[in-house]
Amino acid sequence: MRQLSHRLQTVLALLQNTACLGDIGSDHAFLVAAAVLQGKAARGIAVELCELPWRQSKRTVHALGLSEVVDVRLGDGLEPLLPGEVHALCIAGMGGGTIRGILERGRDKLTQVSQMVLQPNVDAGALRSYLCDSGYRIADEAVVEEASVVYQGMRAEPSREGILYTPLELEYGRINLKRLDSHTVRLLERDFAHWQRVESSLQAGRPEGIAERRQWVNERVSALREVLANVR
Ligand SMILES: C[S@@+](CC[C@H](N)C(=O)[O-])C[C@H]1O[C@@H](n2cnc3c(N)ncnc32)[C@H](O)[C@@H]1O
Repeated sequence: MRQLSHRLQTVLALLQNTACLGDIGSDHAFLVAAAVLQGKAARGIAVELCELPWRQSKRTVHALGLSEVVDVRLGDGLEPLLPGEVHALCIAGMGGGTIRGILERGRDKLTQVSQMVLQPNVDAGALRSYLCDSGYRIADEAVVEEASVVYQGMRAEPSREGILYTPLELEYGRINLKRLDSHTVRLLERDFAHWQRVESSLQAGRPEGIAERRQWVNERVSALREVLANVR
């Protein structure tokens, strides 16, 4: 198997050892195959919605001699899984809304799942917000940059504690904001520049109807300025 992309290596690093990993939206099944080959998962189930990547997943698993330990299934989200069958989930490379939809529709399959490693391409804040409202805490997270695109990854675990996150922590992650590594700083700087541009364009417009939006943008710019002041 060719080397995992930097993004998928980051996703895999967030995964803790597990008996059975479900990789939802497996595409080539590189992630679940690497998890098993590295001994992070004893077994795996790759799930694919589309036939072409499902065939590709089957090819990878067969070529690596993993057919006994990695099952490849065609279907939507968690539907092809039996309740209690997997103990960990990875869902990577989709929008946060798509990931949320998969988790919501498959709630009954999550009873034995003690960790979910999620890597939304967009809408990380809305996904964190959904997770925190649904009885999960963010146990670890990371930011990775690949081909000039910055991605966020997170490991969510069931939790009874009702943890309150600030809007900035939901968007970028409390752990990322504490760690402030170079990828996180780049993400914050990029977004700071974006929201500053939006702030300027809103200032030029008439205030009617956009007061709330203006306030939200002003608060976001101030919060990002404050965080970035500590790293400059
Ligand atoms: C962009 S690829 C990402 C593949 C891989 N997880 C990664 O991160 O490199 C998204 C894959 O998810 C699959 N997918 C999208 N929605 C899905 C769903 N509801 N259930 C299963 N697979 C899905 C797509 O067919 C596609 O192969």
